[in-house]
Amino acid sequence: MMASTIENLYSRSTAAMKHSFIRQILGLTKGVPGMISFAGGLPSPESFPKKLLSELFFEVIREEGDEVLQYGASDGDKVFKDVLKDFEEVPYLSDDEMMITVGSTNAIYYFTRTLVDPGDVIICEAPGFPGSIAAMEACGARMVGVEMDELGMIPQLLRETIQEQLDKGRRVKFIYVIPEFQNPTGKTMDLNRRREIVEIAKEFDLPILEDQPYRELRFSGERIITLWELARTQYDDPRLVTIAKSFSKILGPGLRLGFAAGPPEIIAPMVKWAQKVTVSPDCATQRVAARFIQRGLMRKHIEGIIDLYRPRRDAMLEALETYMPEGATWTRPEGGMFIWVSFKNAIDTDELFRRAIEKKVAFIPGSNFYPQGAERKNELRLNFSYCSIEMIKEGIRRLAELAKQAGGHQCL
Ligand SMILES: Cc1ncc(COP(=O)(O)O)c(C=O)c1O
Repeated sequence: MMASTIENLYSRSTAAMKHSFIRQILGLTKGVPGMISFAGGLPSPESFPKKLLSELFFEVIREEGDEVLQYGASDGDKVFKDVLKDFEEVPYLSDDEMMITVGSTNAIYYFTRTLVDPGDVIICEAPGFPGSIAAMEACGARMVGVEMDELGMIPQLLRETIQEQLDKGRRVKFIYVIPEFQNPTGKTMDLNRRREIVEIAKEFDLPILEDQPYRELRFSGERIITLWELARTQYDDPRLVTIAKSFSKILGPGLRLGFAAGPPEIIAPMVKWAQKVTVSPDCATQRVAARFIQRGLMRKHIEGIIDLYRPRRDAMLEALETYMPEGATWTRPEGGMFIWVSFKNAIDTDELFRRAIEKKVAFIPGSNFYPQGAERKNELRLNFSYCSIEMIKEGIRRLAELAKQAGGHQCL
């Protein structure tokens, strides 16, 4: 069979699938000598607990091999669920309100699969995380972005956007938010904003999907109640919010481990999707993570990651202050892995990216984080978790130089 014939057989959804520009960028920058990349959303390999994990994998296979090398439960391992409930301080959660997933992208995909038919609307942040947007679009969702201020989605615009979509006769299925150290902006919703979003969701009777992969990586400021817990405890509405969390940023993304907690009416069909797609999450990895938590290693390990990333964030903020031209502004995240830079004048960051690659510094142009047609050209995302402090200083110096040449200093 010729390749062209096979392409003609692609399903409509496969044919419509877009290439990930971010993956292309990562391909361009990977392995280039001297390249300083702030592009990927990668944790630092220094944060991976390699020794402990290798010991625990050895132990788990030796002691529980008969069980963990066998097919496992599609909703996740009972032992791991119990350990997680304890760790997350939600002992009251029943097993049918929780599902272990193959990373949180997997949870986001099954959640969307459960609710969305092609053409249905999902309301998301603009800018938002392209990985989730791609997973949602793969289910045929129409993504509609809501502009953000310093605290996340602007409530009034959220309300108007939902109403506009309903007035057009579209079916709006859910609201998707990343309330903490958002990817790509690093912004965090305060308690008041969380309440407002929950209240709007209730007003329109729309579920919320709360994506929380960075929650544990808080370097400063107070921990804030999740929308999930808020709806449950203060609005007496345990069905409103489903939360997705991930071990990617606290153990290692290669382990592909995450979980979702939500109402049984949502979790049960998600598990049915899992039965058909992944069958179960990796059984050995779940028990390894369970032992890691049970031995009291997790909190200390997370503290170690925070101690590694906090100075990197500080170094990036300081370098931006020192080198960036007037007219550039940036977020000051209290945790996570990203800083968002905006230029008040007309710098085209897609163009800046091409020049930056020549000078061996990389970032992701802001246009990649907006729904098609709503792109903004004068913003960019910087990752601070991956590079050393020396690289951060040098990389920001190079980038600022290019921004100045591109006209970043001309007007305010
Ligand atoms: C906001 C957000 N959600 C979800 C994910 C996916 O994480 P996972 O590796 O658990 O699939 C990421 C990863 O970068 C992310 O930034």
